[in-house]
Amino acid sequence: MRAAVYEEYGDADVLRVRDHPEPPVGPDTILVRARATSVNPVDWKIRQGYLQGAYPHHLPIIPGWDVAGVVEAVGPAVITGLQPGDEVFGYVRRDDVCWGTAAELVPAPQRTVTRKPRSLSFEEAAGVPLAGLTAYQCVVEALDVQPGERLLVHAAAGGVGRFAVQLGVARGAVVIGTASPRNHEALRELGCAEVVDYTAGPVSEQLGSPADAVVDLIGGEALDDAPRQVGDPSRVVSVIDPEKVLGIGGRYVFVRPERDHLDALAALVDDDRLRVDVAETFPLERIADAHRASESGHTAGKIVVSI
Ligand SMILES: NC(=O)c1ccc[n+]([C@@H]2O[C@H](COP(=O)([O-])OP(=O)(O)OC[C@H]3O[C@@H](n4cnc5c(N)ncnc54)[C@H](OP(=O)(O)O)[C@@H]3O)[C@@H](O)[C@H]2O)c1
Repeated sequence: MRAAVYEEYGDADVLRVRDHPEPPVGPDTILVRARATSVNPVDWKIRQGYLQGAYPHHLPIIPGWDVAGVVEAVGPAVITGLQPGDEVFGYVRRDDVCWGTAAELVPAPQRTVTRKPRSLSFEEAAGVPLAGLTAYQCVVEALDVQPGERLLVHAAAGGVGRFAVQLGVARGAVVIGTASPRNHEALRELGCAEVVDYTAGPVSEQLGSPADAVVDLIGGEALDDAPRQVGDPSRVVSVIDPEKVLGIGGRYVFVRPERDHLDALAALVDDDRLRVDVAETFPLERIADAHRASESGHTAGKIVVSI
């Protein structure tokens, strides 16, 4: 099969696209013929070698966690009801780093994939799982945002942030998004009632009144400022800095594959209440450029790779 692969850690130049052995497929695994994947910041953090202390890594590594594609084969112990030919999408999380999703064939543990939203192309669907699940597990699960609450979303114009904004709006919250000015119009269009320019000084000093809940996707100074952004610091979630957010009494979220959450996201998409903004799509052969685009830190939505 064709796959993106790297044999050593480093910058995007270590990525190659080449023929690679097909993956092993366990009895509880769904083999997906991938049509698209997306790039998340964790992909280049792993490629740079930063996460070697967290999970076993086995070089050569195929990068990527998101997949959208067609079921090729189903292991004999799979109980999801998915069959060959079904269109699926998922966050193909496993506890070691080796068989990622930037490849023609992806072995997906059965808990990680579900039916793709009918209304999305494969490219659009590949932009949803990791970022959408992260936003869902922050806004819906951890914060349980209620109608009328003021929800502050940091880095609202990025991959996770755009989903967090829309999930807040779908729950009836008044959503405030932080971004640089060039993204403010896009945030208003997504449903933000207020936008804050994080380049113009501390966010807490720019808020009309404190938020009821905060989603931190930045860490650092933004998270240091969080206790002043919110009435009750237990309603701050961060996906960046566990020590700091737990230190102020908030919650740390680390995204996990939950089929129920993916199904909820798919239903919102097919109901026209959640959209995916694809910033740019690259062919697999140009995956190094896709990683570089994500590494810029200023992408407007999702970076997608078609396979
Ligand atoms: N713990 C977990 O499970 C988990 C899961 C998913 C993601 N993450 C992490 O969460 C972060 C965000 O992920 P992502 O996929 O949304 O990234 P992304 O798409 O690369 O985010 C890009 C966005 O960040 C904005 N931004 C950059 N610096 C900012 C600042 N200081 N304040 C406000 N906005 C800023 C940019 O807006 P401008 O262009 O306007 O600057 C841009 O729109 C990454 O570090 C990622 O690794 C963690």
